[in-house]
Amino acid sequence: MSGSTIVPWVVGNWKMNPTRAASEQWTKEFKQLLQQTPILAEQCHLAIAPISLALSEIKHQLSGTPVNVVTQDVSRFAGTGAFTGEISADLLADYGIQYVLIGHSERRELLGDEPQVLREKLKLALKAGLTVIYCVGESLEQREQGTAEVVVLQQICDIASVVAPEHWEKQIIVAYEPIWAIGTGKTASAQDAQSMHEKIRAGLLQLTSFGAQIAILYGGSVKPENAKELAACADINGALVGGASLNAQSFYQIVEAFAQ
Ligand code: PGA
Repeated sequence: MSGSTIVPWVVGNWKMNPTRAASEQWTKEFKQLLQQTPILAEQCHLAIAPISLALSEIKHQLSGTPVNVVTQDVSRFAGTGAFTGEISADLLADYGIQYVLIGHSERRELLGDEPQVLREKLKLALKAGLTVIYCVGESLEQREQGTAEVVVLQQICDIASVVAPEHWEKQIIVAYEPIWAIGTGKTASAQDAQSMHEKIRAGLLQLTSFGAQIAILYGGSVKPENAKELAACADINGALVGGASLNAQSFYQIVEAFAQ
């Protein structure tokens, strides 16, 4: 772990996976691993983002463990009402879900989550008291054109108008996920990741007096083999893990790397 005082977060993003039987097996295995070697709250925060349908079931299976559940998305509409297929931040809170991913690149690219939509979602999530893991990241083209930093900092500035000081303090976690590293097996080198995290940190410090205490997670092909090196970087305060989080052992090893 780095010298930072921020307690790291390791969050598994299960995306549109796995089956019900496989997720039950996962929770069983992960609970056994935690029993053998517990992870203390002051070492590392843990969370899993299953499909919405499974949120309550996984939460129930993981009750009594330190693993939190996260929803992968939230509606841009508030409260209750005629919005077929949607789940509002208020309903998530009502059902005891406290964490939400907003701005994942797959939703930005495939599902129409434009900056304005993200602001609407974020505003409602914060208002409902949820903690938001807000994802940012550049494409390969943007990186090759040398605009990665501008793109990522712009994505952070995009939300500044809807995030109040008290939200920055308690309800925001940032996840930097270079799009070219997601699901590709290509990880940003620890140096490249740290260098972007440093810039994000500087950006956050300009936006809020709580900038020094906001966790900035790295995501994009994080696996047990590269977790230690990433965890050793000063401004990398955890990981958002896709593929490798589907295996309880691998996910646990990544957690261990950040909890040390
Ligand atoms: P990956 O996904 O670990 O499979 O690259 C990360 C993510 O999309 O959150």
